[in-house]
Amino acid sequence: MLEPIKLGQQKIALVPTMGALHKGHVSLIEVAQQHADVVVCSIFVNPTQFTDPKDLEKYPRPLAHDMDMLLAAGCDVVFMPSVQEMYPEPEEWHIDLGPAEFLLEGEFRRGHYQGVTQIVNKLFNAVNPDLAFFGQKDFQQVLMIENMVAYFKLSVQIISCPIIREEDGLAMSSRNIHLTKDDRKNALVLSEALQYVKDNFKTVSIPELLENAKKMITAIPGVDLDYFTIANGKTLLPEADKNQPDIVALVAAKVGQTRLIDNMLLN
Ligand code: PAF
Repeated sequence: MLEPIKLGQQKIALVPTMGALHKGHVSLIEVAQQHADVVVCSIFVNPTQFTDPKDLEKYPRPLAHDMDMLLAAGCDVVFMPSVQEMYPEPEEWHIDLGPAEFLLEGEFRRGHYQGVTQIVNKLFNAVNPDLAFFGQKDFQQVLMIENMVAYFKLSVQIISCPIIREEDGLAMSSRNIHLTKDDRKNALVLSEALQYVKDNFKTVSIPELLENAKKMITAIPGVDLDYFTIANGKTLLPEADKNQPDIVALVAAKVGQTRLIDNMLLN
């Protein structure tokens, strides 16, 4: 049985990850260090959030590299439970994450957010953090975790941290290592299309922005668009009114064999 690691009055921050760490994760740790006394990073490749067994199998697990990154980042505690520890026996999990669960990523990866919230809830129980840090790159994931926290009335504060990009704009992701040289070049169109929408949001209508962004992406061979949407950041439903707060552009596409997601806040 896992014992929570509460240390006196110290503030505990948790940065949950599945390993294959990159600068995006390091930035989460750095923000966490500004908010808490002890920063815990968990590394656990969670089987219940994978909808494709092949995806789980090929998920990168560069452990020595991850340890070096965490040491260099000054992370205080690494929590690396086994599958057996987190799931001693098969268990049903279903919670109401609201209608946004079934949109966008939820439509392409049925059950994914049930798996994500199941493990994040277990990690919260194990570590008992005051704050938990997630990357905005998984925009819908942050929303689902916030809904899970509200559902159970958990006292942990969820903090969404800005997307960290390569110099040319590609959002950092553990999946980027699967990109071939050509894929890597083609993948740029995702951040370029988002940036186009952001730059022209004030002056161009939403339908025209969507049409142009989709045209940019579908023009690149080897990029297979799943969705590009301008949505309300709370409901994830398409947004038609530019004066609403929290508008976000979100994209998902398969680049070669690798599925990538990205997003940008528009106001
Ligand atoms: O974003 C991730 O890496 C994972 O979905 C998370 C939050 C660590 C849960 O397994």
